[in-house]
Amino acid sequence: MSVTRRQFLTGLSGLAVVGLGVGGATRYWLGRNEAPGGHDYELIAAPLDVELVPGHQTPAWAYGGAAPGLELRARQGDWLRVKFINHLPVPTTVHWHGIRLPLEMDGVPYVSQLPVLPGESFDYRFRVPDAGSYWYHPHVTSSEQLGRGLVGPLIVEEREPTGFVHERILSLKNWHVDEEGGFLPFSIPREAARNGTLGRLSTINGKPNPTLDLPAGQIVRVRLLNLDNTATYRLNLKGQGEARIYALDGNPVTPRAMGPDYWLGPGMRICLALRMPAAGEEIALRDGPVRLGTLRAVPSEGSATDWPAPLPPNPIAEPDLANAEKLNFNFEWVGSTADEGVDTPPSLWQINGVAWDINDKTCADRPIARLQRGKSYIFELKNMTQYQHPVHLHGMSFKVIASNRRKIIPYFTDTFLLGRNERAQVALVADNPGTWMFHCHVIDHMETGLMAAIEVA
Ligand code: C2O
Ligand code: CU
Ligand code: CU
Repeated sequence: MSVTRRQFLTGLSGLAVVGLGVGGATRYWLGRNEAPGGHDYELIAAPLDVELVPGHQTPAWAYGGAAPGLELRARQGDWLRVKFINHLPVPTTVHWHGIRLPLEMDGVPYVSQLPVLPGESFDYRFRVPDAGSYWYHPHVTSSEQLGRGLVGPLIVEEREPTGFVHERILSLKNWHVDEEGGFLPFSIPREAARNGTLGRLSTINGKPNPTLDLPAGQIVRVRLLNLDNTATYRLNLKGQGEARIYALDGNPVTPRAMGPDYWLGPGMRICLALRMPAAGEEIALRDGPVRLGTLRAVPSEGSATDWPAPLPPNPIAEPDLANAEKLNFNFEWVGSTADEGVDTPPSLWQINGVAWDINDKTCADRPIARLQRGKSYIFELKNMTQYQHPVHLHGMSFKVIASNRRKIIPYFTDTFLLGRNERAQVALVADNPGTWMFHCHVIDHMETGLMAAIEVA
């Protein structure tokens, strides 16, 4: 499965590295030109100083001159073509979280592609089969790269109008910064062995506790994306107005009331229809009791609309539960046994008794499960730890069907927040050939063992 740099570079020779403007100003983002039937972006990753703490600079890394990164949009069924250019001082890749695509486009180093070296570029081209809220991020030294800001929304629009007139994207991230905006460690072993290393400054779209203006009396499609390394947000809204859930992660659900708290783990998304109150009223968006930001109703034109119809389902194969094969996946805490070198993260977690070594490029050659293409499977996920794990699978979506801890209304997703000591069942049709990462999306859990490969052949 390992590949050489040469294989990947074929066809790329002669590609000019572009992006640095003349005259001092650095142009990170060269704009978007829309080709018929496709969406073309040039996406540059580069250092960027941002002001998270007033009066101080934070040396972030940015996609398209923004952290969180440039919002990418495509239309369901169309091609997304992104020329990615690495102006970082380190190798990287881009992974398209939740998108069902060919393995070569999945951005996993040494499995999908070689890391993109500083000054190099890589052409990502794939169709987006499902409409919904997705995101993109590197899959190389992830604690630091995501921690410094390399996370961005990817929105796939439905093919037909949905009835939503207004839309807002709220990207949530807790930055690992101190009072002067300097970075703190992205991963501390003592924390990695527990909930994961939390950032200290929570932001929405890169702003701490912002006030966002939304049209009074109107229904707004609010896409909340948890792009954080570690934090599970216990989302709730306080104030007038009414919120209904329209989609979870990438997939529509039957619209329902939001309920008191929605636990949005790292990597997860939720799409709400929010009816804003009268002008002047405010809604607090909160994480448990803590305010993350304020949604302020401002006077708007246009008459109030009714709740939109449910969103159309995505074309995901329905697993055949009666004939599905059952596979067990146990998520365990093991603690560190091996001696830890400076560059070697400790091994703290395991899936089915195996820990992933992020420095071993051949780990993917030893998948913990081999699935037969076209067959249905039920994964029994068993959390044997005291911590929750947002369990994520690349390449395919799965259907959450049961849990021993809560009532499940079955739905398709790419990330399931497995509670402490929870047992849950998810099912899928193994319809995408490749070796797919299967990991916890608490980044320092992933980097200290909670990752595996699943092969579909
Ligand atoms: Cu957001 Cu390996 O994934
Ligand atoms: Cu992913
Ligand atoms: Cu975890």
